[in-house]
Amino acid sequence: MDLKTISLSLPHDRGYDIIIGEDALLSLPDFISSNFKDYRLVVITDNTVKRIFYDNLIAVLSTIDNNVLWLSFNAGEASKKISTIETLASQMVEAGLTRQTLVLALGGGVVGDIAGFLSSVYMRSVPFIQIPTTLLAMVDSSVGGKTGVDLPQGKNLIGAFYQPSTVIIDTLFLETLPVDQFQQGLAEAAKYAIGLDASLFDFFIDNVENIKNLEPDILMHLISSCCDNKAKVVSGDEHDRGMRHLLNLGHTVGHGLEASSGYKFGHGDCVSIGMCVAARISVMLNMISEKEEANCNDLLKRLGLPNSIPKGFSSDNIIKAMKHDKKRLADQHIMVLLNGRGKSCVIKDVDENLIIKAIEALS
Ligand code: NAD
Ligand code: GLY
Repeated sequence: MDLKTISLSLPHDRGYDIIIGEDALLSLPDFISSNFKDYRLVVITDNTVKRIFYDNLIAVLSTIDNNVLWLSFNAGEASKKISTIETLASQMVEAGLTRQTLVLALGGGVVGDIAGFLSSVYMRSVPFIQIPTTLLAMVDSSVGGKTGVDLPQGKNLIGAFYQPSTVIIDTLFLETLPVDQFQQGLAEAAKYAIGLDASLFDFFIDNVENIKNLEPDILMHLISSCCDNKAKVVSGDEHDRGMRHLLNLGHTVGHGLEASSGYKFGHGDCVSIGMCVAARISVMLNMISEKEEANCNDLLKRLGLPNSIPKGFSSDNIIKAMKHDKKRLADQHIMVLLNGRGKSCVIKDVDENLIIKAIEALS
């Protein structure tokens, strides 16, 4: 199958290509030879991804002469903290890595966020390439340059906008991804369909089973449509001051739920419920019809994603956790709401009582 290339344009020659398809990884050596011939390489990954894909990447890189260092940390969100950056940077210094270093971020969103942030600060910045291995990272986190780590007070509170030199999305990585992780990524993919792209919505409806069965051309279309949407949004608002907020559909309440569960619930599950709450509030504000809300809920349900607030969670807890959200402006609840099929807008100052009513309607 041919590879697909999506260009993300940014000022000052900082734009880059997103290369998608089966065996896209094979394009990596040529890209390095053409752009980073004399650089040392450091693969940043987690221990699970390293175990599964070490031999694979070593074989791919064997065609070029660059010296390669591998550094890994324990898989999972708990590693997304500033001490991991310090440890990795120290290991790089110990290995003699200078500014002439290219970082390869091989893994899911946790690896991409850590390796991207590390690249933005190591010796005042070195280039990096995103090589996502989870669906979530392929459709969202590897594109757009949001990098960072968590603090005990909340997620992603330290970070930088720092763009990769390219993103290589090899869909074959998905063959080993556990089903529940694939599902979490589907929520982020559905976000583009529900909030930005009516034709992707239609595609989802027609292809739920094909998507779940990892049909190659269906996956290719799904991932490239998401990346295309994301590239357009990021090109228009790299630093998240306006239209990029639309990518937070489902995330305001979703983050509240995730935080109040002590991060035990999957991010995608929480975003799915958050999108249902956003749809409910949109109906209450006469922005969409009940039929449109039902279409959105049905799609999420068919994808195996939750539609209702799990037992034991009160609107009080969720609202309290939402108030810690870094995207909150002063005392306002800013939310992305729906105003049509595949259409969304940012509403500032959403009445807290409406949010409570919507959460209670879904409890
Ligand atoms: P993750 O990186 O923790 O990966 C999930 C699990 O899957 C890990 O255990 C990992 O080792 C394993 N794994 C990865 N690829 C695999 C494969 N191909 N086969 C088998 N196992 C594999 O989680 P994630 O869901 O990819 O990313 C979540 C993170 O992404 C969160 O920290 C979130 O804040 C961040 N995020 C960032 C952005 C952004 O724009 N930067 C956007 C959305 C989410
Ligand atoms: N995942 C949201 C963003 O990149 O802005």
